[in-house]
Amino acid sequence: MGRMDNKPARLENLHTDKGKVPVYATGIVAQPWDDYTATDHDVWRRLYERQRTLLIGRASDEFLAAQDAMGMTPDRIPKFSDMDQALHDATGWTLVGVEGLLPELDFFDHLANRRFPVTWWIRRPDQVDYIEEPDLFHDLFGHVPLLMNPVFADYMQAYGRGGVKAHGIGADALVNLTRLYWYTVEFGLIRQKDGLRIYGSGIVSSKGESIHCLESDAPNRIGFDLERIMRTRYRIDTFQKTYFVIDSFAQLMDATGPDFTPIYARLATQDSHPAGAVLDGDRVFHRGSGEGWASDGDV
Ligand code: PHE
Ligand code: CO
Repeated sequence: MGRMDNKPARLENLHTDKGKVPVYATGIVAQPWDDYTATDHDVWRRLYERQRTLLIGRASDEFLAAQDAMGMTPDRIPKFSDMDQALHDATGWTLVGVEGLLPELDFFDHLANRRFPVTWWIRRPDQVDYIEEPDLFHDLFGHVPLLMNPVFADYMQAYGRGGVKAHGIGADALVNLTRLYWYTVEFGLIRQKDGLRIYGSGIVSSKGESIHCLESDAPNRIGFDLERIMRTRYRIDTFQKTYFVIDSFAQLMDATGPDFTPIYARLATQDSHPAGAVLDGDRVFHRGSGEGWASDGDV
C-alpha cells in the first residue's frame, strides 16, 4: 500500500515450497535516493556499462540516443526527478516510483495517463545476470528511454487505454493483449536501414538475450502481424523462441489503432500457436533451428 510517509518496501516474488508467488504493490512511493548504498550504485554502473557496450550496434539508434538525451549515465543511479525533466519536455510522460509489480488495472491506468511506474530498488550483485521480476535497472534503463520517442510514447498510452478496456471484456482478451505487450514492448526487434535492431526492454536489460536475439540461429525472427502475435504463446523462463520484427514505430501505431473488440471475439474461437511455430503466411526473416528449445513450458 502507499507508503509516502515511510520507507518504501522492496517487494520481490516469494519463493515458497508451493513455488513462486508474485507479490503486488499498488502505492506510489518517493524514490529514496539518499538511501541507496555504494553497492546499489555499483550494480547500476556495472550493468549500465556492460549493456551499453553490448548494445551499440545491437539496440536501435533511437534507444541509445534517447538514453543520452535524458542524461542517463553510469556514474550513479539516476534520480527519477532528473529523468522526468527531459521526458516531460519531450513527450509529457512522467515517472512514478513503485515497490514492485502492480495489479494489471493499476498498471494500465498509469500508462493511460502517461505515467510510467519504475521500481525504486535495484537488484543485488548476485542478481546481475538474472532476476525474475522487474527492478530499477530493467524499468529505467530498459523501458524509459523510448518514452522519449513521440510515436512510441503514444503507443504506450494507447496500450494502457486498451488494457483498461480489455480488462472489462474479460480474461481471454487480456491474454491476447498481454502477448502483444510481450512481443513488442518487452521483446521487440525493429528493422533499421542497416539491419535488425533491438527495442524491447526485456532484451536490452539482459546480456544473454541481447546477443541471442540477433546472433543465434535458434530463434525465429518473423515480421510483425497483430493477430498472429495475439495468438502466440511465449516464454517467461528461457530466451524467446520467436522475435517479431517491426519496420517502424509508426507501423506499430497504425496496426494497433483499430478497435480490438472484434479481434478479441474472433480469437476467442481460435487455438493459440506454440511459441516456436512458423506458419504459412509468416514473413520469415530467419527460421529458427530450434536448438536448445525446451519442449514444454510456453505460457
Ligand atoms: N486499439 C486497441 C483497442 O481497441 C488499443 C491498443 C492500442 C492496444 C495500442 C494496444 C496497443 O483495444
Ligand atoms: Co518490463
